[in-house]
Order: sequence, then C-alpha cells, then structure tokens
Amino acid sequence: MTLDPRALRDAFGSFMTGVTVVTTRDASGNPVGFTANSFSSVSLDPPLLLVCPGKFLSSYEVFAGCSHFAVNILAEGQQDASNTFASYKGDRFAKVAHSTGAHDLPLIDGALAQFCCSTHQAIPAGDHTVLIGQVTDFSHAGGRGLGYVGGSYFSLGLEQEMDSDQPTICGAIIRAGDAVLMERKGTTYSPFHIAGAEPGGQRLRLAQGLADRGIKARLEQVYSSFNDATTKLHYTFFLASFAGAAIPEGTEWIAIEHLPNLTYATPSVGKMMTRFALEAREGDFSLYLGDADRGELHSFDKGAG
Ligand SMILES: Cc1cc2nc3c(=O)[nH]c(=O)nc-3n(C[C@H](O)[C@H](O)[C@H](O)COP(=O)(O)O)c2cc1C
Repeated sequence: MTLDPRALRDAFGSFMTGVTVVTTRDASGNPVGFTANSFSSVSLDPPLLLVCPGKFLSSYEVFAGCSHFAVNILAEGQQDASNTFASYKGDRFAKVAHSTGAHDLPLIDGALAQFCCSTHQAIPAGDHTVLIGQVTDFSHAGGRGLGYVGGSYFSLGLEQEMDSDQPTICGAIIRAGDAVLMERKGTTYSPFHIAGAEPGGQRLRLAQGLADRGIKARLEQVYSSFNDATTKLHYTFFLASFAGAAIPEGTEWIAIEHLPNLTYATPSVGKMMTRFALEAREGDFSLYLGDADRGELHSFDKGAG
C-alpha cells in the first residue's frame, strides 16, 4: 500500500506537542538554530533527550555532526521566536533575545526550560536524523508551554483560563497582510464574532461560525479574553489569518492603522482593536486576560522584531 504523504503528514500533525528551538554553533562559531516539535525526553539515568533534525534544514550537516547542542522549550507567547527559527532566512539570533550557556551554546531567553547536551548518538532515520543528547546542564522556569497541533499554535493554559461562567462571545481578528476583516453594520464595526459558545468549546464553535459565514480563515492563538462589566459578557478573541479568496457581504478589509478610528458596536472590543493596531505596528503582540479596563498582560517574545 502506498501512503499519501500529505495525509500522513496531517495524521502525524494531529499529535499535540510543545515547541522547541534547537541550537548549536557551526565550525566558525556562528550560532545556528531551528524550530522543532520532534522533541522527546528519553531517559533519566543517564539523562537523555532526543530531537529530529530533517535533511532539508540548511543547518542539517551542522546538527548531524555537532558535539553539543541545546534544546529550548518555548513558553506560551513565544510564537514569534518559533516562527523566526522556522522560517526567517536572515540572522535568526539578531531577532530573538538569547544568551550563552554551557559549552558556549546559544540559549533562547524566556524559554520554559533549556537543556545543554553533549551528543550521545546521531542515528540516521529516513529523511531525518534522531539526535540523542545527554543533558549536561539545564534550567527550568515555571510557566506554561507553547502548544502546537494541526499546524497551529495554541496555549492550553489560556484556553482553560478563559473559561467563564458568564455568557460568552467569541470572535476572531482575521488578518491578511496589513488589513483586518471587519463586519460592518451601518456605521459601526466589529471583528467577526458569535454568541453563546460554551466554555472550552469556543475554538470549535468559532471555526463552525466562520464556515457558516463563508469566511475561510485559520484560527491561531487566543489574543484576548476579558469580562465586560457593561455588557456583562465574557469576550474571547483569537488571532486568525485569512485563507480564502472572496469575503462575504457585510464584511470589509480595514487597514490596521485605521482600526483606532472606527466606531465599534462594543467599546471594550474597540479598545482591544486599538491595542491590536498598536501592537501590530510595534510587531509585539501580548496576550490579554482580565477585564476590559484592567488586565494582566502576558508579554509575547520581546526579542522578535
Ligand atoms: C512547530 C514547528 C515544528 C517543527 N519541527 C521540526 C522538527 O522537528 N525537525 C525539523 O527538521 N524541522 C522542524 N520544523 C521545520 C524547521 O523549523 C524549518 O524547516 C527550519 O527552521 C528551516 O530552516 P532553514 O531555513 O535553515 O533550512 C518545524 C517547524 C515548526 C513551525
């Protein structure tokens, strides 16, 4: 039986994982790194872990032959660092704050855990190598990890925290380039949203709501989750990227820089959109939990530009 590689990749991708950045230095001492979710702990005695660099990596030979490497487990909010180490072609380390650990290994600041390893074994396996490291040094900060499943990031902690006894509105800030898709009713605007999704089920209900509205978008992480004392509703908004061609009637693309000038159906949502515009300009998104006026800000990776 021949297996459909795309279907197999999707099936593998249904396994929920964390996200790591694996680093080392090349022969000239330059730091190299890539994003990996193939990490696994292997053994406590001796302390072993593994990660699988693919042959397609520009740094494959460096990792396949390295004497030492580090694994950084990313915290929630570090998706910028993950994206940088997955796709940025320039100097990745110039965009992400880092320091130096044992064996002169580059370590990603703000990671939940950092493991410095000596290479125990590098086993060729198909189009990847299973790189097994013996942990020689590690650090562990408390906090929640960045999750990944089906090609999207998620924050389990946030999705649990946003559960609320109040009636819920959940919505999506759908972005394509420098514009956001907004619903327009007369002169007032709102990002796409639906009412009444039960706690824990928002992501699914929202995906269904988008499909019903004829909007093709890929849901990403939670951006904001807050109670509005005026409307007595709990709001949860996800970031999303537009994945369609046409947009339905009643929706418009609004340039992100114009978001603060719109009239919003709900003022607290307007406040959130103004913050979104500001953060999009600065390229620094923060997770927001709390009420409409005061909330705890969970900073995303500050190192990424
Ligand atoms: C969440 C996520 C997990 C990934 N996991 C792996 C992995 O385990 N092994 C791997 O070789 N590439 C993995 N990649 C892809 C590499 O990070 C990406 O191909 C690499 O950074 C490209 O680097 P290059 O431009 O130097 O070739 C992953 C990407 C993402 C976004």
